[in-house]
Amino acid sequence: MSYYRMPILEEKGYVVLSRDNRVIEPREWTELEWVDWKSSGDTRFAPLASAYGEIECNAFWHFDPPKPDKDGVWIDSQVDTAPTLAEIALEPEANVGRVRIIELQPNSYADALYNSHLDDNNRINPDGEGWIVRGFRNLTDDGESFMILREDINDPSTETRIALPAGARIIVDSERMWHSVCHNGDEPRYCLITSFESGPALEKWIFENDPTTDVDMAELDADFAEDQEAEAQERRAKRTAHYGYDPTEVRSEA
Ligand SMILES: [Fe+2]
Repeated sequence: MSYYRMPILEEKGYVVLSRDNRVIEPREWTELEWVDWKSSGDTRFAPLASAYGEIECNAFWHFDPPKPDKDGVWIDSQVDTAPTLAEIALEPEANVGRVRIIELQPNSYADALYNSHLDDNNRINPDGEGWIVRGFRNLTDDGESFMILREDINDPSTETRIALPAGARIIVDSERMWHSVCHNGDEPRYCLITSFESGPALEKWIFENDPTTDVDMAELDADFAEDQEAEAQERRAKRTAHYGYDPTEVRSEA
């Protein structure tokens, strides 16, 4: 299949943008209607756009007619509660699919590595169209937390850790890059996640927002990282033995 892929993601599979300084009232996420939906740990989701405008989080190809993860239908009642969040997702003027807020409870670095996965972003996406990637815009101020990206989940040397203060913005080819978040804190983390179709509009917007892959990685104590890595890999191996295959290699529908 030959999709249009943005050259800016080619080298690293992600790009970090400048922080978005817009101040958003927390009620834009706390007052949304939430759905229990598990992805990468103890999570819930609140959809702003879904396959056909219902308050649910299923992948678009489960519906009749099935669709790829684009042409998401906005949910009026949710957009009424979260107008700024909808505005942020629409700002690049790219085609959007699923638009959701994730709520993630605090976890450990080992938990995050255990839950790291690849997304199923391009199922039934027609040949020749834009490769679907994801935009993450952190809502809560979680400067001690970080997104963990790896080219190879079994190779810590391929890891990038990106801090998540309020307004942090990252575009990730999450079907290529293993990803999860280590959330250090006492309160849940909230983040806007948007499926975007690659194309000139998204690319233009990325270039207008100071893209870089030169990130100051959150420091980790070497012994701590080694212990947590061993714990995570042991738990991953046990899960693989239990299922007879690694369920995180089946791309996540979440
Ligand atoms: Fe994911």
